Order: sequence, then C-alpha cells, then structure tokens
Amino acid sequence: MTVTLLDRARGDVAPTGEAKADARMPINMKLRINGREHRLTLDGRTTLLDALREHVGLTGTKKGCDHGQCGACTVLIGNRRVLSCLSFAMMAEGSEITTIEGLARPDGTLHPMQQAFVDHDAFQCGYCTPGQILSAIACVHEGHAETDAQIREYMSGNLCRCAAYPNIVDAIKQAKPQMKEA
Ligand code: FES
Ligand code: FES
Repeated sequence: MTVTLLDRARGDVAPTGEAKADARMPINMKLRINGREHRLTLDGRTTLLDALREHVGLTGTKKGCDHGQCGACTVLIGNRRVLSCLSFAMMAEGSEITTIEGLARPDGTLHPMQQAFVDHDAFQCGYCTPGQILSAIACVHEGHAETDAQIREYMSGNLCRCAAYPNIVDAIKQAKPQMKEA
C-alpha cells in the first residue's frame, strides 16, 4: 500500500511506515444487552453510548456531557459501572451489558433500586436518573454503601443538576437490604 503524506498527517501510518488498521472501517460486533444479543456493524470508533442510543434504540441511557464528567451515561458491564460515553462499543463485546431498560422484571415489577428512587422522590427532571440508578446498584454490589458519607463519596461521579442528592442517599439505603434479599 502506498503511504501518502496525507496518511502521515492523519496519523494513519505507524512509525515503521506501515499503514495502521483504519478505525473508521465498519466492524461487525455482537453486543449482549439486557439479556438479548444484538448484531451490529459500526464504525470502530462508535462509543457504547451512541451504539445503545442511535443503533439499538435504547435511549434510556442519557448523554449529558459526552466527556466522562457527569455520569448520565452510566451502564453496567457485568456488575461494574462504566461510563458508556468513554467506552468503545466493540470493547463490550462478550460482556453482559445492562441498561436502565433491563432492570425491571418482565411483569413490570421494578428493581428495588428503581422502586426506592420512586419511594424517596429521588429525582426532579429525571435526566440523571438512569445513570444514578445503575451507579447506585453497582455502589451496593461494591460494598460502598455502608454509610451516608460513603454513599456520597462513591456516588460523586453522578451529577444531579436538580440536587436530589439527599433523596438519592435515602433511596440507596432503602434498596440495599432489599437487593441482598432478592
Ligand atoms: S455523558 Fe458520559 S459522563 Fe457525561
Ligand atoms: S433529577 Fe434532574 S438532573 Fe438529576
């Protein structure tokens, strides 16, 4: 392959002079989301957030800052919370991805954390809420919900412009024992 000056300027050429793989080429991937497999063909640079919202149609995961600063885009990969705006979709292949749409049971019963947010009125506009709930579930699984101060510290990556923070702490304290029973 002929390496042009334009390739070098774009950074498409390794220091050895060989052409790098082009991340813009469509890549086939299988993403397992909320227990269902989705086959997608995406630009290799597509974020998990854009894959979920724009290509799978799961718009419950919100785009706030798109820069890893607000937590609105939090999803679970396994039991681990991940900022989907900072993750490439293809990095999640082979893992179980959970979004807000995957929490309630098929009969509509809410996950204990969702119910606790409702019970404690832990939102106003609701834009941050999907990310807060996914992050709160992970916070409990991590063992970081032992005290109010610990909850505040480990939920500090999820911003709420409506300042529902005290209610969010109360909701997490309600859901924690129920999650252990479930
Ligand atoms: S949208 Fe991902 S952290 Fe704000
Ligand atoms: S409920 Fe409005 S930003 Fe959190």
